Amino acid sequence: MIEFKSVSKTYPNGVIGLKDVSVTINEGELVVIVGLSGAGKSTFLRSINRLNEISSGEILISGRSITRAKGKDLRIMRRDIGMIFQSFNLVKRSSVLKNVLAGRVGYHSTARTLTGMFPKEDLELAFESLKKVGIEQKAYMRADELSGGQQQRVAIARTLAQQAKILLADEPIASLDPVTTIQVMDDIARINKEMNITTIVNLHHIDLAKKYATRILGFREGKLVFDGPVEEATDEIFDYIYNGKTEELAEV
Ligand SMILES: Nc1ncnc2c1ncn2[C@@H]1O[C@H](COP(=O)(O)OP(=O)(O)OP(=O)(O)O)[C@@H](O)[C@H]1O
Ligand SMILES: [Mg+2]
Repeated sequence: MIEFKSVSKTYPNGVIGLKDVSVTINEGELVVIVGLSGAGKSTFLRSINRLNEISSGEILISGRSITRAKGKDLRIMRRDIGMIFQSFNLVKRSSVLKNVLAGRVGYHSTARTLTGMFPKEDLELAFESLKKVGIEQKAYMRADELSGGQQQRVAIARTLAQQAKILLADEPIASLDPVTTIQVMDDIARINKEMNITTIVNLHHIDLAKKYATRILGFREGKLVFDGPVEEATDEIFDYIYNGKTEELAEV
């Protein structure tokens, strides 16, 4: 479903983000990416929807090159890819409903979306999406009146309204408390299973990676140094991915 073919990324200042990464992620997987800060996790994720342009290699989605896609083709490919972030990235002063409807923008002409008029089906889809994450009763509240966990659920609902086939989550729980963390990760895991949405999550917590992943990718200095099912990701493997720093991490 998502295929990286010898992908490298060097930032304009010469810093290496990814080094010759080749990997295929299959439909319906829940892949967790781990690695030290600066290892290339976000670069990897952001390359998939071209928030980051890669320097060499190619990325295919369902057999089509997103690397080479332009204009309308790129827009249509991006429509299938939802993304959530540590900081939620909502329009704070807009209602929850409007934020979720933003997931529909890629389906309509710019003129139509500028008027803020969405078809009835979009509204139904937005409410359905909010229901899936259990916050439909918050639809008319301002996004910034919600708790962090609720805001992250709005962001998840936005990707559901988008009818994305792929969900990219860049440290989705980094701003949340431990209880909310589990709720949001449970939501992500449930959506992955029930809706068969291929999901890739960057996480800093080894325990969460083990709990939720079907497959783990470990990055170190831009290189993919581990790729395997969660059962194979032993303490030794994690220690290697984290460059012998897992003890320090555990203490934080
Ligand atoms: N826009 C940028 N310009 C220059 N260098 C960058 C840029 N973004 C990231 N980098 C560098 O690329 C490398 C990989 O960064 P990336 O953000 O992918 O790491 P990460 O694994 O997501 O780290 P973290 O866990 O801190 O989020 C780092 O050395 C980082 O400093
Ligand atoms: Mg990052």
